Amino acid sequence: MSRNGHLRSTAPAAQQLRPLPSLDHAGLSDARLLPDADFAAYWDAVVLPNGDKNRIAQTAAAGFVLRRSIAFERLPLHGVILLVGPPGTGKTTLARGLADRLAKLICGPSQFAYLEIDAHTLASSSLGRSQQAVQQLFDTTIAEVAAGGPLVVLLDEVETIATDRGQLSFDANPADVHRAVDAALIGLDRVARTRRDVLFVATSNFPAAIDGALMSRADLVISVDLPTLQARKAILADTITALAEAYPGARRLLADDLLDRAAAVSEGLDGRRLRKVIAAAAGRNAVSTVDPGEITFDDLQAAIGDATNGAL
Ligand SMILES: Nc1ncnc2c1ncn2[C@@H]1O[C@H](COP(=O)(O)OP(=O)(O)OP(=O)(O)O)[C@@H](O)[C@H]1O
Ligand SMILES: [Mg+2]
Repeated sequence: MSRNGHLRSTAPAAQQLRPLPSLDHAGLSDARLLPDADFAAYWDAVVLPNGDKNRIAQTAAAGFVLRRSIAFERLPLHGVILLVGPPGTGKTTLARGLADRLAKLICGPSQFAYLEIDAHTLASSSLGRSQQAVQQLFDTTIAEVAAGGPLVVLLDEVETIATDRGQLSFDANPADVHRAVDAALIGLDRVARTRRDVLFVATSNFPAAIDGALMSRADLVISVDLPTLQARKAILADTITALAEAYPGARRLLADDLLDRAAAVSEGLDGRRLRKVIAAAAGRNAVSTVDPGEITFDDLQAAIGDATNGAL
């Protein structure tokens, strides 16, 4: 939507596409139509334990279908999925990929839209304005897009806008924070009741800091944990494959026994750290600094060691 409140059209001359809001609203960090090639790549890149990804997608799709056909009073599904887990475990990447997956799984004539909410910008709206910003976001921006067809909304780091009110002290936190949380929950409820084809995917590192009212509205709470041995091997393989596409010499590191050894010594690293380890390994000697295809396995192992010791 533009500043004067009109939805901007993304339609090229010949094709009629759904209009999307522009990103000049407090709290809105992305708006796009689905399916989306980048998001499809995110879905492929996220590694979860056996079968979990498909189970998550199918459960989300089933909820979506049920909400369309059964009244809220009979089946109180809010259309809220919560992904919780430590930093760097792929929650945001998974949420974006899930949006794309859902758009592909749900057949229908209408195109899916996607909005991403950056809770930090909303919460940091100047004093007295965050409640207003939250209301505007749910009641106008999200509601208008939802009126045009199916919609997935990512509420990233949701504890920032749905902070547990029980833990807020009125001394340290102005009443506006409380009102903003109330507004978020009321807005969510209103969208959930009136628009049955909207799915909110919320992520958080701090589930204990999320207001209980939001927790109880979640249809599904998914714990995204540190990668298992198998997942670490797959993440390392994916990162090294990407490296080898640019620097073919790195293919040596894709040998199964090397990947097994690297995965074995990287217990405790999250997916983000694991991927970054490749860059740290490249920087460990003068040759691989200029040609990262020349990373040695010893340097990779040493970089993993540094990362697991917190030195990276
Ligand atoms: N399980 C995983 N499989 C593959 N890649 C992963 C995994 N976890 C993290 N990554 C990679 O790490 C990076 C960070 O992931 P992402 O931002 O989705 O994590 P997050 O859980 O949302 O982190 P935060 O809690 O800090 O917001 C991405 O490049 C992602 O591809
Ligand atoms: Mg995240």
